[in-house]
Amino acid sequence: MTKNGFSAAGLVLLCAGLPLSARAEAPPPAFGVCSACHSTEAGKTSFGPNLRGVGGRKAASLPGYAYSSALKASGLTWTREELDSWLTSPQRKVPGTKMPFAGYADAEKRRQVIDYLLSLK
Ligand code: HEC
Repeated sequence: MTKNGFSAAGLVLLCAGLPLSARAEAPPPAFGVCSACHSTEAGKTSFGPNLRGVGGRKAASLPGYAYSSALKASGLTWTREELDSWLTSPQRKVPGTKMPFAGYADAEKRRQVIDYLLSLK
């Protein structure tokens, strides 16, 4: 292999090894279950509230979405830390929430989902 061919192959390998957060908005497999209820396409609402731009947003603050009174009263702001405990167990984090998801016990899955959410502006 030529010297150039070698470095091009190296570059391809490097890109394949980039963390998910560094790739442009590709949802990780762990987001699949979320997307059954949540859209990340601007302006689209499904069963759950739209998640585009959720990072830094006040909980239950999207106009026009019928949130539970529990989430409205939570006073949360969706930082990485709050999203992490929410996705560990929504019902424990906000008793009375209407999000019917048991939670991800796997911290790596939560991290991938949160990296993805925080990459959506
Ligand atoms: C079966 C449907 C369902 C699934 C699966 C689901 N959610 Fe939800 N989600 C909801 C509903 C409904 C709400 C509104 C909760 C409320 O008002 O109490 C919600 C609320 C949220 C909120 C708060 C949004 C806001 O505007 O305050 C976040 C963040 C969230 N979900 C993230 C996720 C993520 C990430 C996953 C996947 C790991 C997921 N959800 C899986 C239905 C779902």
